[in-house]
Amino acid sequence: MLEVAALRAGYGPIEVLRGIDLTVAAGEIVALLGSNGAGKSTLNNNISGLYRPFGGAIRFDGKDIAGTPSMRIVESGLVQVPEGRRVFPNLTVRDNLELGSYRRGKPTRARNLERVLTTFPRLRERLRQAAGTLSGGEQQMLAIGRGLMAEPRLLILDEPSLGLSPLLVEEMFALIGRLNADGLSILLVEQNVMQSLTIAHRAYVLENGRIALQGLAAELAEHPDLRKSYLGH
Ligand SMILES: Nc1ncnc2c1ncn2[C@@H]1O[C@H](COP(=O)(O)OP(=O)(O)OP(=O)(O)O)[C@@H](O)[C@H]1O
Ligand SMILES: [Mg+2]
Repeated sequence: MLEVAALRAGYGPIEVLRGIDLTVAAGEIVALLGSNGAGKSTLNNNISGLYRPFGGAIRFDGKDIAGTPSMRIVESGLVQVPEGRRVFPNLTVRDNLELGSYRRGKPTRARNLERVLTTFPRLRERLRQAAGTLSGGEQQMLAIGRGLMAEPRLLILDEPSLGLSPLLVEEMFALIGRLNADGLSILLVEQNVMQSLTIAHRAYVLENGRIALQGLAAELAEHPDLRKSYLGH
């Protein structure tokens, strides 16, 4: 479904990603792991069309999308929930959600809204509340809900568990599992290594702009290099 090949990208003269190969097949959860500054968000933002890569290819459904305007990419079903929630604080929960679907017709929007509110009952209770007054966990739900409003087939989640309490982290991972069970393909960018490997099918570890490790999630969870780098034993 998604195929990234020999991707090089960065900012001005600085090359951050130095030849990335990565795929996500239909129905998969693929985890992208790596420490701060490894280049995870840079990769997402290039896939999402926010930046134009220096070189290499990004294919979605076989079509090269590198440098395509992000709006077109969203319309084709590849949707990113960016790091740090980024809801519009002064707009209501409802307006934030509807913005995720503004390119779709009214009946479709209403149906999408109903589906998202079924997934996140807490948001239904707060539809008229300003998004900036939601708790951190609720804002994360809103950000994901807004992504779902765009009818993704592949959803990129950039650190969805960041800043959540342990209980909410559990809930978040359970939710990601359910979305996937309903047929959504997911690229899960996380620093929460072991929990991500529990729900992912495959994983990549990004270090300094290169893929340092990759494989089946269950195998990576036992990999000595990964355990040493991320768990200290
Ligand atoms: N807009 C930008 N201009 C210049 N350099 C940038 C820009 N955004 C990111 N970088 C640099 O690119 C490198 C990779 O950053 P990136 O945000 O992709 O890392 P990350 O893996 O997502 O880290 P984190 O886990 O902290 O979110 C960092 O060295 C960062 O300083
Ligand atoms: Mg990041």
